[in-house]
Amino acid sequence: MADRLKILVILGSVREGRMALPVGQWVVEQAASREALDCELVDLKQWDLPFYPFAKAPSAGHYSDPLQIRWAEKVASADGYILIAPEYNHGPPAVLKNALDFVYAEWNRKPVTFVGYGGNGAARSIEQLTCIARELQMAPLEGSVHIMGVWGKVKDGTFAGDEKDLRWLGHAFDEVEWWGRALAAARRES
Ligand SMILES: Cc1cc2nc3c(=O)[nH]c(=O)nc-3n(C[C@H](O)[C@H](O)[C@H](O)COP(=O)(O)O)c2cc1C
Repeated sequence: MADRLKILVILGSVREGRMALPVGQWVVEQAASREALDCELVDLKQWDLPFYPFAKAPSAGHYSDPLQIRWAEKVASADGYILIAPEYNHGPPAVLKNALDFVYAEWNRKPVTFVGYGGNGAARSIEQLTCIARELQMAPLEGSVHIMGVWGKVKDGTFAGDEKDLRWLGHAFDEVEWWGRALAAARRES
């Protein structure tokens, strides 16, 4: 068995009573049965990143702020990402976009997939995230998860996906694993 892939599962909401937390916990729990994946939950509420305040663009690659450096190290530690994506006014929440904007090279040439929920399974938010990911030189994957009726699937703070959610998540894990391995090998060689 090759080395496990480190995957960050990033919660896209910091709102009180957010669905992102139970959904993200469910994703990490489901990933525990995947030998190849080592998933870590990343809570943007705990990171508390300010709206991008620095003079230099992250693509310039000169980080000086300690929090920006810590976030860069966290992002760099992973082989891929699963974004837990709500939909706010047909786009991703600002807190998630800001976390993506905050660093640059550390995202490059790594796969990203999406677990969305909301009225249309956050389909419109995920479409925008796909474009943003491409600009960050990530590989946004086919087969994101669109959870319908999330509110009825959370009981006492725990999310339970139905058969379709589980099937879609299984496919998303398969893709993260395949692309994670392929791109990790390519990064090592280049
Ligand atoms: C500011 C805001 C905007 C929203 N806009 C949408 C929307 O455009 N489409 C949608 O399906 N749901 C929308 N919703 C409902 C969210 O899908 C629902 O609140 C979901 O639980 C948000 O994720 P969260 O609980 O993790 O923050 C919106 C909610 C908020 C707070």
